[in-house]
Amino acid sequence: MAAAILPQIINQNSEIRSSLKILELIQRTTEFFQRQGVESPRLTIELMVAHVLKRKRLELYLDFEREIAESTLDALRQMVKRRAAGEPLQYVLGIANFYGLDLAVDKRVLVPRPETELLVDYVVKNSAAAKTLADLGTGSGAIAIALAKKLATARVLAVDASAEALEVARTNGSAHGAQIEFLHGDLLAPLPDGLQCDWIVSNPPYIPSGEIAALAREIRDHEPRAALDGGTDGLDVVRRIAAEARARLAAGGRVAVEIGAGQGSAAERIFLDNGYRVEKMISDWQGHPRVVVAAG
Ligand SMILES: C[S@@+](CC[C@H](N)C(=O)[O-])C[C@H]1O[C@@H](n2cnc3c(N)ncnc32)[C@H](O)[C@@H]1O
Repeated sequence: MAAAILPQIINQNSEIRSSLKILELIQRTTEFFQRQGVESPRLTIELMVAHVLKRKRLELYLDFEREIAESTLDALRQMVKRRAAGEPLQYVLGIANFYGLDLAVDKRVLVPRPETELLVDYVVKNSAAAKTLADLGTGSGAIAIALAKKLATARVLAVDASAEALEVARTNGSAHGAQIEFLHGDLLAPLPDGLQCDWIVSNPPYIPSGEIAALAREIRDHEPRAALDGGTDGLDVVRRIAAEARARLAAGGRVAVEIGAGQGSAAERIFLDNGYRVEKMISDWQGHPRVVVAAG
């Protein structure tokens, strides 16, 4: 119970509050997080302290004996409470790192995942001549911004059905000086008439509806349902992309779509049935195919 234990950590009385040192706070909160079942408890509190002090995490090690100001403790207490209640650490910090870029994130968008960097990496390495790329379901803007930064002369468009997500994506795009056309709507529908793309990329919602209840509380209770739910078998949006994207590909154009672990052969079949040639199935570090690359 966060409310019951937290006061012992940092709020018992003003004497403790005003004399709490960085190391002591880290140790006590680590124990607290352990009891709460928070993953990587010590790293989590170190990242929080570094964040509020605007320092690099490792710099804290040189400053363990420093006393923490009361205003800093107040901010930390809020963050500890939120994380102990199951909010993803990235929402609590307000930042997620993706492809070397710090992106603002909150409950309006999915926290970008390392698997999605595999998709970006492949597209970056195979886009020497790409002029136009579209990211469907851009969320925080992660894929579109990473591509726009790496492929500076390409035209990048980013679509999301969630107006709230697009606000976050626009903020991130501006913060990184990325030239992206952000469009509100359903998959390919908002793309300008006649636009043909060299790449259509997407990390769509792909969790089977019936599996959402069993996900970790960080995901189930905090990330947007529209970013997760892919229908009965998880592949509803993948099927739509496969059916609709081919007509929007330029000559030699390709589609790259992230899928869930265990969806490899079903997703490959979807693209083959829609007349694509499957160029590559990119696997994650556990060997599960996680990105389908298909040529139109
Ligand atoms: C899994 S999240 C991916 C976010 C981001 N691209 C990333 O990789 O971190 C899927 C995103 O697709 C959006 N989305 C879901 N269905 C959509 C649709 N039919 N048209 C456009 N966007 C959609 C959701 O709002 C969500 O932002």
